[in-house]
Formats: sequence, structure tokens, C-alpha cells
Amino acid sequence: MVIRSIELNNYRNYENLKIEFSEGTNILFGDNAQGKTNILEAAYLSGTTKSHRGAKDRELIRFDQSEGHIRTIIEKDEKEYQIDIHLRKNKSKGIAINRIPIKKTTELFGLLNIILFSPEDLNIIKNGPQERRRFIDAELCQLDKIYLHNLKQYNKILEQRNKLLKDIPMKPELKDTLSIWDNQLIDYGTKIIDSRKKFIKDLNEIVHDMHFKISGGKEDLLVEYEPNVYAPNMEMELLKATDRDLHLGNTSVGPHRDDLKFSISGIDIRKFGSQGQQRTCALSLKLSEIQLVKMIIGEKPVLLLDDVLSELDSNRQNYLLNSIYDTQTIITCTGLDDFVKNRFKINRVYEVMQGQVFERSSTN
Ligand SMILES: Nc1ncnc2c1ncn2[C@@H]1O[C@H](COP(=O)(O)OP(=O)(O)OP(=O)(O)O)[C@@H](O)[C@H]1O
Ligand SMILES: [Mg+2]
Repeated sequence: MVIRSIELNNYRNYENLKIEFSEGTNILFGDNAQGKTNILEAAYLSGTTKSHRGAKDRELIRFDQSEGHIRTIIEKDEKEYQIDIHLRKNKSKGIAINRIPIKKTTELFGLLNIILFSPEDLNIIKNGPQERRRFIDAELCQLDKIYLHNLKQYNKILEQRNKLLKDIPMKPELKDTLSIWDNQLIDYGTKIIDSRKKFIKDLNEIVHDMHFKISGGKEDLLVEYEPNVYAPNMEMELLKATDRDLHLGNTSVGPHRDDLKFSISGIDIRKFGSQGQQRTCALSLKLSEIQLVKMIIGEKPVLLLDDVLSELDSNRQNYLLNSIYDTQTIITCTGLDDFVKNRFKINRVYEVMQGQVFERSSTN
């Protein structure tokens, strides 16, 4: 699949913009704070309905305006689709596919698959479990609508259960209702655990081979699912933890506490890996996502690289650039020097300046 064009209207620092993309490599370069990431964010929103920076809708609308628009034209299976996102200050966003409004934002999921790679992703191995869970969810939600639904339900029920746990000490009569929430939490929780288990098993095979190549045949990387609780035990463990949960006012058992383990030769590199090892593993993981999407949905996703090349040494840069030759890629960077040195094929180059975009020749 490819993004043909994006039109922005009162979105972030863009009053009006129309930008067209090649199906190969596209570069957006420019000084800091000019609006490069904002364009990638709009692309990400068109695939996932959310900002990768976790921004709220109202923050996406240009200052002093009450609404903003994103229109993205994509091509998939030789068909064209128009995705319109209408951002409104005090209302939830409206989304239309081919001018037909959709009722639930989840209907958009799966139409445009996006993989975004930013410098923060390079820290996924060394940072906390929350970011590794976010990685799993971001991928699985794009690939599997049932998972997306289960996760939404799970999070809703978890929130309600936590609220109830806090209320029970004041209103002990509420304790009888806890089992209603427990049953639903177990129902959705076990489905999430099963999906994650399968996903990580598939991912591990690809990541292993990818990392073996990137490390020059030196490292055998193993990615394992570290569930907080195994699905068949969830009911028992949740019941066992009831007193503790009541005391803490929080749910201590369930997939919201899961983690992903990365090890090389039996060593847990989350804790003991060198910085370089951790970053290379993160790169292997990201590159594997591209392959996994291809494998599962039969189409290549769109890759967005936000300022990530400058963070990698030339070996890793080359590896990355060689792996994406057949994938539509939009790259942001502050200067063009590195790319000219690398002499890899660039199809379109844009300079971004203060919320405006100028096409530059891709040969200089
Ligand atoms: N809602 C908004 N309305 C108007 N301008 C905004 C809004 N949100 C962000 N901006 C502006 O957008 C600019 C930041 O854009 P962006 O993050 O895309 O920069 P960038 O080119 O990626 O920079 P860097 O190289 O530092 O990553 C800032 O100048 C910021 O003030
Ligand atoms: Mg940026």
C-alpha cells in the first residue's frame, strides 16, 4: 500500500498544505520545529486514528482555530481510498472513508498500515515494560480488529474494576459486584494473552533472523513473551490477589502487566545488554515489523522514519536503508548530507520551512 498524498488544513502549524509522495523513498528535511514530524503524525493518524505522540485531538488543531482537517489518499490492492479526518475542538473527531462517514473509529483500522520509527523506539529494550506493551499493542491493533476490540473492552473493565476497588473500603456492600467485573476481565484478558502469545511467537522467528544478519552472524536474539499471568491461571491468580488489590486499590494481575523479554545467549539484554546491543535489537525489531505485516496482510506497510537515521552509525544506517528498498518510506531529517554520502535512491525531496513545503531536486 502507498500514500499518494496528504492534504492538511488548520492542522498543527499548517494552514493549508497538499503534499504528494512517491511510492519509493521520500525525504522531508528542514530545521527544527518547522513541521516535519507533524506531517508524519498526520500520516500516522490516517492509519491509526491516533497521534503517535499521544497528543489529544484539540492539540492537533492549528492554534486559534476550532477545527482542522486531514485528507489522505492511499492506494491499496490497486484501489484508491480517500481518508478524511475532521478534528473538532470540543467534539470527537469525524472520520470518512471515500466520503462515507464511519460510525466507529475502529472501522478505519487495517486500511492503512503504518510503521513509525523514531529515536525513542531505539530505547524500547532498555526502557520500562509499558513501552514494550505499547509496541505489541500498536502492531496487533493494526493487524487484528478483534484484538483491538478485546483490548478496548479490557481497558474499560480494568478501569471500572480499579474504581470499584477504591470504593469498596467506603461502601463494603459493593464487594459482591466485584465478581461481575472479574469475570469480564478474565474473559477479555485471556483472549489478549492468547493473541499476544501467538504474535510474539511469529515475531520472534523473523526478529531472530533479522538480528542474526545485522549482527554479522554473531548474535542469536530470542524474543519471548513474559505474561504477567498465563491464561489458564488468570481466574485463580485474580481471586488470590483480591485482598491485596483491595488494599492497593489497583488490579495487580492481568495482561496490563505483561512484558517482552529480549535475550542473547541466555543473557537478558534489557538489563545486561550494552547500549549498542540494545539499539541494534530495537532496529531488528522494527525491521521485523515490516516483514510481519507483509506476511500477515499480504501487503507492505508504509514506513515513517522520524529523525532516526542520524541516531544510527553508518553500518546500521546502511542496513536499514537496504531493507526498505521495496517499501514506501517517508524520512525526516535536518540535513541532506548523510543521504548524499550514502548515495541511496531518493525519489522525492521536500524542504519543510515554517509550515510550508517546497519540492527540491532529488539529485543534489
Ligand atoms: N496546534 C498547533 N498549532 C500551530 N502550531 C503548532 C501546533 N502544534 C505544534 N505546532 C508547531 O509545530 C512546530 C513543530 O513541528 P514538528 O514537531 O513537526 O517539528 P520538526 O520539523 O519535526 O522539528 P524537529 O526537527 O525538532 O523534530 C512547532 O513550531 C510548534 O510550535
Ligand atoms: Mg521532528
